[in-house]
Amino acid sequence: MTFIKFVKGIVLMDLVILVESIGVVYDLVKMALMWIVSGFLSEEIDLLKGKVMGAPFWNANCNRCRKKENTVEMNRQFDRLMVILMTEMLAAISTITFGDQYSISLSALPNPIRVRIMQKGNKVELNKRVKAKAKTDFDDTGIDISLSHKVNAVKPSKTVAISDHAATLLQAGVPVIRLAAGEPDFDTPAVIAEAGMNAIREGYTRYSPNAGTLELRQAICYKLKEENGITYTPDEIVVSNGAKQSVVQAVLAVCSPGDEVIIPAPFYTSYPEMARLADATPVILPTHISNNFVLDPKLLEANLTERSRLLILCSPCNPTGSVYSKKLLEEIAQIVAKHPRLLVISDEIYEHIIYAPATHTSFASLPGMWDKTLTVNGFSKTFAMTGWRLGYVAGPKHFVAACGKIQSQFTSGASSISQKAGVAALGLGYAGGEAVSTMVKAFKERRDFLVESFRKMDGVKISEPQGAFYLFIDFSSYYGREAEGFGIIDDSDSLCRYLLDKGQVALVPGSAFGDDTCIRISYADSLINLKIAVERIKKALIPLSSVSL
Ligand SMILES: Cc1ncc(COP(=O)(O)O)c(C=O)c1O
Repeated sequence: MTFIKFVKGIVLMDLVILVESIGVVYDLVKMALMWIVSGFLSEEIDLLKGKVMGAPFWNANCNRCRKKENTVEMNRQFDRLMVILMTEMLAAISTITFGDQYSISLSALPNPIRVRIMQKGNKVELNKRVKAKAKTDFDDTGIDISLSHKVNAVKPSKTVAISDHAATLLQAGVPVIRLAAGEPDFDTPAVIAEAGMNAIREGYTRYSPNAGTLELRQAICYKLKEENGITYTPDEIVVSNGAKQSVVQAVLAVCSPGDEVIIPAPFYTSYPEMARLADATPVILPTHISNNFVLDPKLLEANLTERSRLLILCSPCNPTGSVYSKKLLEEIAQIVAKHPRLLVISDEIYEHIIYAPATHTSFASLPGMWDKTLTVNGFSKTFAMTGWRLGYVAGPKHFVAACGKIQSQFTSGASSISQKAGVAALGLGYAGGEAVSTMVKAFKERRDFLVESFRKMDGVKISEPQGAFYLFIDFSSYYGREAEGFGIIDDSDSLCRYLLDKGQVALVPGSAFGDDTCIRISYADSLINLKIAVERIKKALIPLSSVSL
């Protein structure tokens, strides 16, 4: 309790945790503290449980209290004091005893414990009663089943959940058309597959260098120079097990707790979760269907602060298919240039799945942006190689080496076999040559069909995608309607469930991408299946159209 003495006169805090157990509510903890600092608003914060050298340690996640209006010093002071306060307070009550009968150790308390910070004038109080369930962290075998605060902070991927659900229905004999997954329906081009098989035959089956084979990194450098106009040396490339790993490692390499990661929405579903894994705060900037879902530079400028560490751009974009023009990227680059702390991850994995007249511009090729950009790309989409797990990051050595450092303690180098296949893929020539252009032609035909079909449909809004293989369609005019035997459709999740249930078409709700008005349709399926799917969707929507609000 030395801490209490230390802050005596300044601090008074009241934290009450009520624990419900087997229907009985116990008052567990009651402490009173009040914190006097200035300028914070009423906020709930989480006390997150972790371990330091095996001992329970409770930390305050006060990112949400770190307001733009606060001075940097205020935020720093607040962070520091909160952490000391929580650690001291909770360490002092690591075991709580009730009469002679019960005692609960701190490790069995729910995680996180939620407390509220209140602002009173220029005073901040930490004094709200908190009701928490006594969800013991121990299962019947006595094993502590609590999970890390990082896992608790991350949301599971909805795309994966829906794809799995659709696969289960299909296995059970339901003729579901699956338009939820983000993978080309084509086979890996034969030359690439052959190179993979040869790699096995020829004994390329050992660990590869952590950053990737020199042969592949050289081929990547050549590709980036020829196709993207950006110059790198092999030590500025790290090859990973898919572009997803390349993005998350880049986020982990440059973000510190309290940093902000700017993400235009709709976004690739993993970006915000990656920011959370790095203890950074995702800052979501909405875009609009009327503006082809591209980021408004003014909105970007208005949201940048000294905490902004990363901007994640994705063009062509998953889930919208929108492509950022060179002019727009130049405007964004001018804003980025004004912020010395700000870096950009440019996710260019769909660069070759693009429909004329749209063209792809690599952000790092713009004046002044090479030093500030981590370019991510991969083989999954362009070369239909999702299962080979091969992607890469290119950027200034300092940052890329940091990505490599994480990888070295995490997965080590990517599959040696896939890397041989990757060399063959890049050997197909500019933009993947004929093998890739054949796939892109098929994607374009499907896009044209879907755009035309949905344009004719009542109550939907679409913007024509310029790249990737997704359509992001606004179905929000159907929200609020009731379907017989289903209930009210009030958001993209319920509409997707309804369309899966009634129409047997698996789609992904826009909520997974940060825009609940829309639904994502992947057209990585045959034209025949897409035609059937459109008919099923139309039919399923009829009863909703005829029911007035
Ligand atoms: C925008 C975007 N980036 C990265 C990835 C991950 O690709 P990979 O399969 O190479 O990990 C995906 C996959 O869907 C994606 O859509």
